[in-house]
Amino acid sequence: MAEPFYITTPIYYVNARPHLGHAYTTVAADVVNRFNSMSGSDTFFLTGTDEHGDKIVDAAEKENLSPKAYADMISGLFRDLWPKLNIKYDHFVRTTDHDHMAVVEYVLQKIYDKGDIYFSEYEGLYCVGCERFYMERELVDGKCPDHEKVPERIKESNYFFKMSKYQDWLIDWIKNNPDFIRPERYKNEVLSFLSEPLEDLCISRPKTRLKWGITLPFDENYVTYVWFDALINYISVLSYPDGEKFKKFWPSVQHIVAKDILKPHGIYWPIMLKAAGIETYQHLNVHGYWIVDQSKISKTLGNAVDPESLINTYGLDAFRYFLMRDMVFGLDSNFSEEALVQRINSDLANDLGNLFSRVLSMAHKYFNGIVPGYGSSEEAPLSLEKDAAKAVKTFTKEMERFSFHKGLMAVWKFIGKMNKYVDEKAPWELAKKGDSKELEAVIYNLLEGLRIVSGLIYPVMPDTAKVMQKHLGLELETEKGIPFYSRYLIKTWKRLKPGTNLLNVITLFPRIDVKKDKADSKKVKEKKPGFPAIKPEISMADFSKVDLRVATIIQAEPVPKSKKLLKVEVEMNGKRTVVAGISTSYSPEDIVGKQVIIVANLKPAKLMGVMSQGMILAADDKGLVLATVDRNVKPGTPLS
Ligand code: ME8
Ligand code: MG
Repeated sequence: MAEPFYITTPIYYVNARPHLGHAYTTVAADVVNRFNSMSGSDTFFLTGTDEHGDKIVDAAEKENLSPKAYADMISGLFRDLWPKLNIKYDHFVRTTDHDHMAVVEYVLQKIYDKGDIYFSEYEGLYCVGCERFYMERELVDGKCPDHEKVPERIKESNYFFKMSKYQDWLIDWIKNNPDFIRPERYKNEVLSFLSEPLEDLCISRPKTRLKWGITLPFDENYVTYVWFDALINYISVLSYPDGEKFKKFWPSVQHIVAKDILKPHGIYWPIMLKAAGIETYQHLNVHGYWIVDQSKISKTLGNAVDPESLINTYGLDAFRYFLMRDMVFGLDSNFSEEALVQRINSDLANDLGNLFSRVLSMAHKYFNGIVPGYGSSEEAPLSLEKDAAKAVKTFTKEMERFSFHKGLMAVWKFIGKMNKYVDEKAPWELAKKGDSKELEAVIYNLLEGLRIVSGLIYPVMPDTAKVMQKHLGLELETEKGIPFYSRYLIKTWKRLKPGTNLLNVITLFPRIDVKKDKADSKKVKEKKPGFPAIKPEISMADFSKVDLRVATIIQAEPVPKSKKLLKVEVEMNGKRTVVAGISTSYSPEDIVGKQVIIVANLKPAKLMGVMSQGMILAADDKGLVLATVDRNVKPGTPLS
């Protein structure tokens, strides 16, 4: 029987229109879902909207609508957008659905009856944007770090969930299941949070203050705190406790979220499940932020990027490819149209698109558009077959751990090999020489390689995969209910049948001419992709003034209030402190122990209140990459 696989996105708040950030998470879930379904799993993909709570009421008031009417409208925008991004979910949940509300009541009652919910008075700092209380130490400049607003001080009697009771259990669980939360930096973040006493969670709001929520089953004067309501969506849609879907898909579930909601998912949710006597989820997969002009895209800051206008300008598959290829899952990524155009022109138009039309036109020229015979393996060593197997293996491994960019890099490495194979084998020379056996083998291998590529890109670019397959003369059918580009088929070489008719030559991705498309996109015009020009020449004497040294990082920590800076302590003829603007690419625990290159005689300078004695060298490749030495050397060693 096919293995069950269940993937979820966060359910998005209905207080503003969907933007690039929501599109990323939901496309990622779709990619994971398609990958698992093509690998033979029985999959279930859930997304939806989160509709209760203060901020929905506020947003609705501004539009002069009732909360429900407002939620209907915005929820509709999300539901309408997903098909345009080729996102094939199985269920769209709304927290205002009656089935969902009934399960929330059931879970609350169960935990209440167990004695894990109590009544008490509380005073605290509350951020309406986050719908949660903050501790002083979590604030930056006295403000919520996410919404950059001063939280309100609120005092009231409420119901509390005994999270503290489960703190030790959760720490053990995370330690015993090291990839429960991944990538690792987020596991460490949760563990570091758990190293201090966990406060119990306030899970109610008095109706005098907020009516828009699910009434507590044990006190009709209160509604449920929005996070306690929202998280339960992941099981309410499976008809917990008795539903067939629940039995089948729980706990084989993987959640995808961005780091903004790490705490509710990494701490509240497993503890809620534990208290309710439900097995916890399999993995929490946490990604970073898409950044525009140095800030996280968000509705409050008003720098949202509209996914629909991007797909209209650049094409759907190009957009999906860009999202998956450009972001390193777990780290922040800068969004710019120029980066998107660069990806389209180099990876899609040049590498993949050229290869496809080149190979198809040769098949037409030399074999009248018919798949040739296998030729002979002696004459055309089957190196492509080995390369294909390698690509499939790496791709599978990386996709399983949500390293989408690495999975795609493996496919593009194979595409690069094929382009090189064309140049090396020079089919035109073989044709001239009349070496028909080798020519057959070369063209056959290339067509077969393209078939494999079409299967591998399917989760990310389903439309392109289908077009490629159609032009390769493959039938777009399923075998025993599994699409023919399933894992089994991408593992097998020689699936293309000699004698099959190929369709005409096509251009998969037209190049985007940056200069010509002025009207469409100003941003693209303003900045040309590529590196800055080489600086003016200097003499050896000038260069020798710069003292470059190898240093070992012994400690690192974020510079308070800074988004980019890390305070790094290095060993190098004694200890020094250097401030480095690398925290969007590296977290402190990533770099401790690394040897780096330092400009040791740079005049000390104060950065965000911290004195920096020197500068750490790094390459800027959409995120910073530290320069280092090929093997460990003594700290302080000069470079020349
Ligand atoms: O937090 N970069 O909803 P939300 C990447 N309702 N992803 C981004 C992003 C960005 N700049 N901005 C948003 C909520 N996202 C709760 C969730 S779940 C039980 C309840 C994505 O509308 C990312 O997935 O604020 C992030 O975690 C989510 O949108 C937050 O959506
Ligand atoms: Mg949010």
